[in-house]
Amino acid sequence: MGRLDGKRAIVTGAGRGIGKAIAAKLLAEGARLIVCDAVPERMDETAVDLAGLGEIHALAGDITNDAFCQRLVTTAVERLGGLDVLANNAGVATVESFLEISRHNWDRTLAVNLTASFRLGQLAARQMVTQGSGGAIVNMASTNGHAGERGLVAYNVSKAGIILLTKTMAIELAEHNIRVNCVSPGWIWTDLAAEGGLDPEFIAAYLEKIPLRRYGKPEEVANLFAFLASDEASFISGDSVVIDGGQLSEE
Ligand SMILES: NC(=O)c1ccc[n+]([C@@H]2O[C@H](COP(=O)([O-])OP(=O)(O)OC[C@H]3O[C@@H](n4cnc5c(N)ncnc54)[C@H](O)[C@@H]3O)[C@@H](O)[C@H]2O)c1
Repeated sequence: MGRLDGKRAIVTGAGRGIGKAIAAKLLAEGARLIVCDAVPERMDETAVDLAGLGEIHALAGDITNDAFCQRLVTTAVERLGGLDVLANNAGVATVESFLEISRHNWDRTLAVNLTASFRLGQLAARQMVTQGSGGAIVNMASTNGHAGERGLVAYNVSKAGIILLTKTMAIELAEHNIRVNCVSPGWIWTDLAAEGGLDPEFIAAYLEKIPLRRYGKPEEVANLFAFLASDEASFISGDSVVIDGGQLSEE
């Protein structure tokens, strides 16, 4: 028996990294999935790689597009018979100083990381309310939503926004038995980190900030998503659960 047996879920940004690990973990726990990614080749690869774990339907598209968000929810209803869980994982980050970041990069980061989680969260919650059987939404924040980091102004702000989006959704959706939480990872080793334009020396020195002296793994974040999405977390709502090897605990 899996802890998500019978649950119908959407996972965004499941083409690689943490999102792909979340999709694998939810499937392993018995959920049936709609997954999406903006890069079609990644979506195809995920669908093939994870097919053996359970029922998975992959859609390529951009979650900043309202029509695509609606399509995700409609597909969940058509293919899975409804929706119980939303994992709002997809996100982007570019390293640019406050003095140099362009208006375009600011807008794009906020659109993907914050506004799309709001909009897809709203559409998913409306479906859950219509069904009348509750649900769980797990948003992706970051330690950068708790404490700012140089060169990541738009990212920091987007993730801080996710924490208050989560709390507000939790308050307003509680009467429908829909729980909403977010996860705040520290540094998890994925392609996003590798492609972020960071200096290799900075990457190596960063370990000094992490009491466990290693980067996190996508699977460790996926375990937390699965727990928060499951009925085992039935009294947890509005929280931001930090998963950072102790980083935020040390000054
Ligand atoms: N890696 C870390 O250290 C870390 C730490 C804290 C939080 N996070 C957050 O975790 C999430 C996943 O990060 P990751 O490291 O796995 O990144 P990643 O870049 O490896 O994977 C993200 C996936 O999301 C997809 N995506 C991006 N924009 C999209 C859009 N508009 N529509 C649909 N799909 C889109 C990408 O194509 C990619 O496949 C992000 O929200 C990120 O901010 C990551």
